[in-house]
Amino acid sequence: MHRSANDSKLIMNVNRRSQISEGYRNIRTNIQFSEWNHRLHVIAVVSTQAGEGKTTTIGNLAVAYAHEGKNVLLIDADLRHPSIQSLFKVSNRTGLSKLLANQCSHEEAVQLSGIENLSLVTAGPIPPNPTELLSSGKLQELIEGWKESYDVILLDTSPIMAVADGLIVSSISDGVILVVKSGKVKREYIRKTKERLEHAKAQIIGVVLNHKKISKSEARHYNYYGYRD
Ligand SMILES: Nc1ncnc2c1ncn2[C@@H]1O[C@H](COP(=O)(O)OP(=O)(O)OP(=O)(O)O)[C@@H](O)[C@H]1O
Ligand SMILES: [Mg+2]
Repeated sequence: MHRSANDSKLIMNVNRRSQISEGYRNIRTNIQFSEWNHRLHVIAVVSTQAGEGKTTTIGNLAVAYAHEGKNVLLIDADLRHPSIQSLFKVSNRTGLSKLLANQCSHEEAVQLSGIENLSLVTAGPIPPNPTELLSSGKLQELIEGWKESYDVILLDTSPIMAVADGLIVSSISDGVILVVKSGKVKREYIRKTKERLEHAKAQIIGVVLNHKKISKSEARHYNYYGYRD
């Protein structure tokens, strides 16, 4: 999947008819038709290294689900590099780090996104102990509660190679989407990530090959199928 330089990062909300929006709808549809769909309420996005496209992918996927009428909660569980607030242009004064530390209420942490059916929990101020906060059991408890109110809960995470945070979040999700930056990450590292996810009992439900440049003929093929929402 490759966006051109002037595309908005939240392309699903700006141009629903673009090829790339179709790509995000395809990810949503593939999940819905996957054999695991009946128990996929909580989905995390992971990657091996930083900057492979996790936040962009999960943000657009959240909008794709919301456009379909699903009640969606998008949580920024990348406590070391909060970015959902920039993508949706909302405040990060409060959020997950404060909720996990019992320093704010649900009402303060869950924000409107400006997009119908989509609520957000930003990461909040960067805490001194992200791994400890994420592994305390409190996140799992919060998610269990949110399952009552939301059809789909989506989680952004930290890169797997760097710290344990992404694995912890993956292990409490029903499924994970592995984003791979095309041509940039050594196969050996991707294999290691896959092994780590399996070891953490995470279920990889799909792989998104990101930043992939497509040829003109491939682009024409996409256009032929056009807009289908
Ligand atoms: N498909 C794409 N085509 C072109 N640019 C992209 C694409 N996906 C992401 N980008 C750009 O690549 C950069 C990194 O993307 P993003 O922030 O989503 O990655 P990330 O995995 O969340 O990074 P981090 O681990 O640092 O949080 C951003 O500038 C984003 O706009
Ligand atoms: Mg990110």
